[in-house]
Amino acid sequence: MTLTLDIERVAALIRETAEAEILPRYQRLEAGDIRQKSGPQDLVTAADLASEARLERALRALLPGSLVVGEEGVFADPSLLARLHGAGPIWIIDPIDGTINFTEGRPHFAVIVALVEDGAIVAGWLHDVLAGETAVAARGAGAWIGDRRLRVAAPAPFERMTGAVYVGAKRAPALHERSKALRPLMGARSYLRSAGAEYLALVRGASHYALFTRLMPWDHVAGYLIHAEAGGHAACLDGSAYRPWPIEGSLLLAPDRETWAELARRFTAD
Ligand code: IPD
Ligand code: CA
Ligand code: CA
Repeated sequence: MTLTLDIERVAALIRETAEAEILPRYQRLEAGDIRQKSGPQDLVTAADLASEARLERALRALLPGSLVVGEEGVFADPSLLARLHGAGPIWIIDPIDGTINFTEGRPHFAVIVALVEDGAIVAGWLHDVLAGETAVAARGAGAWIGDRRLRVAAPAPFERMTGAVYVGAKRAPALHERSKALRPLMGARSYLRSAGAEYLALVRGASHYALFTRLMPWDHVAGYLIHAEAGGHAACLDGSAYRPWPIEGSLLLAPDRETWAELARRFTAD
């Protein structure tokens, strides 16, 4: 099997999963289908659990010897996160990203899958469930939706760029204050309540930049690679290279290296 074929096969599995487990439950969830995890903003539904279980089965069968790190699996057993430090192929799964939107029957939710091997990011898939489109990238082979090659937006002056800023006041108080102070100078804000939807906006060229803290691998690994393969530049705000772990730190994604440096300066200036 060529890598291209693998990528298409994985995209088909994700699509089938979304059609079987997610779409039929959209706008049809009952109260008993939704559960809180750490708090009211952290939810899991019957669709998340069914999507992750089905993807886990299908992806492990596709790549014998592979392991899975899935958001809901890690919630049930936090020790599974340590699999990311091991060798061999590991699938990283977010069975529904944007669960809050999904529970409210609103758009902007995605299925996110990444494949890492020996710590390196090999491929990523971002499936826009309602649009039925999957953005895919394998390292070095560009980013695509079907046969359409993806390109990040062209850089623009700061005041004219659209950006997503997901910076928690508790997690990163100084950065939070700084981004509040920048607000009057910034162009449009994108706030879709889904990291996956923000990555899709970046790689479709609909948004210019994004800044995230709390770097859970299922939220960021696939999008990071697809963004890089779409020509974007990204790194942690301290200048270090992004990796699937640790989860602390801040990830800044921009159209190119120069814009990244300008954004980093603005977000870190005293
Ligand atoms: C969340 C969403 C949200 C982001 C959170 C994520 P979930 O994922 O992407 O936009 O702010 O950090 O955990 O819980 O909907 O999969
Ligand atoms: Ca998520
Ligand atoms: Ca999720």
